[in-house]
Amino acid sequence: MSNTQTSIFDKETYKPKSSFTVTEFCSGIGGFRLGLEAIGGKVVLSSEIDKYAIQTYKHWFSEDSEGNLFDYKSSDIPDHDILTAGFPCQPFSVAGVVSNKHWDKTKPENQKKKSGFQYTDQKEGGDQGQVFNGLLKIIKRKRPKAIILENVRGLLSHDKGNTWEVIQEELKKAQYDIHFKVIDAVHWVPQHRRRVFIAGFDKKQFDTNKVDFFSFPTEPITELKIGSILQKRVKEKYTLKDGTWNSLQTIRERNRNMPKGQKKGFGYSIVDREGPSRTLTKRYFKDGAEILIEQKNKNPRRLTPLEALRLMGFNQIENRYDNTDEIFVVSDSQAFRQLGNAVVPHVVEAVGREVLRTIENN
Ligand SMILES: C[S@@+](CC[C@H](N)C(=O)[O-])C[C@H]1O[C@@H](n2cnc3c(N)ncnc32)[C@H](O)[C@@H]1O
Repeated sequence: MSNTQTSIFDKETYKPKSSFTVTEFCSGIGGFRLGLEAIGGKVVLSSEIDKYAIQTYKHWFSEDSEGNLFDYKSSDIPDHDILTAGFPCQPFSVAGVVSNKHWDKTKPENQKKKSGFQYTDQKEGGDQGQVFNGLLKIIKRKRPKAIILENVRGLLSHDKGNTWEVIQEELKKAQYDIHFKVIDAVHWVPQHRRRVFIAGFDKKQFDTNKVDFFSFPTEPITELKIGSILQKRVKEKYTLKDGTWNSLQTIRERNRNMPKGQKKGFGYSIVDREGPSRTLTKRYFKDGAEILIEQKNKNPRRLTPLEALRLMGFNQIENRYDNTDEIFVVSDSQAFRQLGNAVVPHVVEAVGREVLRTIENN
């Protein structure tokens, strides 16, 4: 699979001149790390609270990422050039509020569920809505040259745009120059995955008013096919059981006859091997509904964790292991959850190159 094809319209790919230091908050399984290490980044601190994500991170990078970002004193955090974080997206995405909750908007308890900065879910560490404020505190104290944040697109429209307005205002008050762009990872991996990337630069260190101070990368023109990352033989356990397959078909049928607005779930989606898939979400392990692979004379199947790893562009990890059975040390459901939460390293790398172009030339 070619991930590196660039468009003739693309500007020359920037090659950073020197190495630089990075912190990775909400580090998950290290999507920012992989993307920035590829261009000379050295991670000086990673912070994560999910015990299974911490296990995967340790296995892949031989480093302990355990640490709640609310608990760090300034002196615990080494100085660094770029702060990164894919801060929790559940507070800002309907799908996030839905996940693991069998969410039904007609149920009173779900109508009461708070979102945005007030979102909490004790099972997942609590205070997710406040993580941005925790990050802001660190940014103000440590004043990295640049920050790169990532979140679901829903962040921009949440609470009629007010949440995004507050985030921008707070970063501007902290004297950071803010740029953002929704980027679809489909230009690097065979998966539609639209995420908002936020790049910020310390106004105390840069004259950010200069013309063309920073711009996001142009997406390369690629036509990636999910067929190219599928395994030839997969274990039987990935084939949907009759019960799951029947219920997905029933949901789709029921939805077909429902008026818009009353539809629940979307049923399922069988991938076209010649094109990209839908977005892998953290709920994928439940039934695989968003990305199903057709099979001859059998029910469709889910992706395997290895295919999901490739779909997220974590190929570097695969290349480190001779035996693919050694890649994951967590259950399939945790592996899908972690991958569905992650950022695509190739997109981080592309954004990172432009951030470095700006830092090094200003
Ligand atoms: C959207 S995921 C980020 C995934 C990451 N970018 C990757 O590539 O794997 C958000 C992560 O933030 C973590 N998180 C939530 N609250 C946190 C906190 N207070 N301190 C550190 N990490 C936290 C969650 O456990 C989750 O793994």
